[in-house]
Amino acid sequence: MGEIRHILSASQFDRPFLDRMYRLTNKIRQFDKSKEGLIYLQSLLAHKRAMLYFTQPSTRTFLSFQSACHILGIKNSEIRDTATSSERKGESIEDSLRTFSSYVDLIIMRSPVGGLCDRVAGLLDKTDRPVPIINAGSGPDEHPTQALLDIYTLERSFKNLGGIEGKTICMVGDLKRGRTVRSLSRLLTLYPQARLLFASPQAFKIEDDLRQFLRSSRTEFMETENFKEAISQSDAVYMTRVQDEYDTVAGDSAKVDSSAFCLKAEHLKIMKPTSVIMHPLPRRNELDPAIDNDPRAKYWRQERNGMWTRVALMTKLLGMDEKILLPEL
Ligand code: CP
Repeated sequence: MGEIRHILSASQFDRPFLDRMYRLTNKIRQFDKSKEGLIYLQSLLAHKRAMLYFTQPSTRTFLSFQSACHILGIKNSEIRDTATSSERKGESIEDSLRTFSSYVDLIIMRSPVGGLCDRVAGLLDKTDRPVPIINAGSGPDEHPTQALLDIYTLERSFKNLGGIEGKTICMVGDLKRGRTVRSLSRLLTLYPQARLLFASPQAFKIEDDLRQFLRSSRTEFMETENFKEAISQSDAVYMTRVQDEYDTVAGDSAKVDSSAFCLKAEHLKIMKPTSVIMHPLPRRNELDPAIDNDPRAKYWRQERNGMWTRVALMTKLLGMDEKILLPEL
């Protein structure tokens, strides 16, 4: 993989990049252990400014990127509602993004519009301020930085179990509109013999483009409605919520019976003792809070890993990764 200008899709990452991100994130966490280390991190990008343009609801992606900016000394500005920007006065989204590029060195954006990041990146690349774009979630299509933190969490969880290679990862829930599932599935094709199970009601099965991608990359996968059988075979169970914000007719999702795809405390006994339970969060009833204290539950750790992974990603994108990897602690 050559130089990266923007982070738009999980499909732009290759395995050497993921391995480097894993090492980089681990090294950054070591800097976090001392005041001197944290001061060093804060000095790395203190000359940079970032825009957080989040026009779709977010808690953890927004806060983890904002915290990552703070860790690296990056000053940040934000728009979280177009009602407070000149889009309200009829300014196009393209003109808005080009305006941000006048003021900052990096744009981190979440939007309900699939493909918008790619369009804006292409547009900015033709200007004299081609600032990098990070896709922090684009409609139902992609969430590449979530996939990076998910891979990091899986790598750490399987560190003493031979890595992600050869593991069975089960994704559960609304797999049709779940962008985290789409991005993570693409990255898992980079791990030899990783096997994917997709457990969902018929109405929420994966889309055909993902199915074709998995076939073309020769990744073994199976789609099933047998939730219990799937979770009992798996080394990781990745739960997701119903994405009803994308219903074309309000209330359509509620007509689908998803009750058989909820992970409850009673299921823990049929899961492998070494398996891990993940969820990109936020959750609803598909993941019982009674599971939170089980040692296999990794979703709160996953959230914090997101902050460190995003620190690592920004150092890479802004050319400071060698300054993390090289110094001895
Ligand atoms: N996982 C995730 O994208 O969460 P938020 O919507 O809270 O950012």
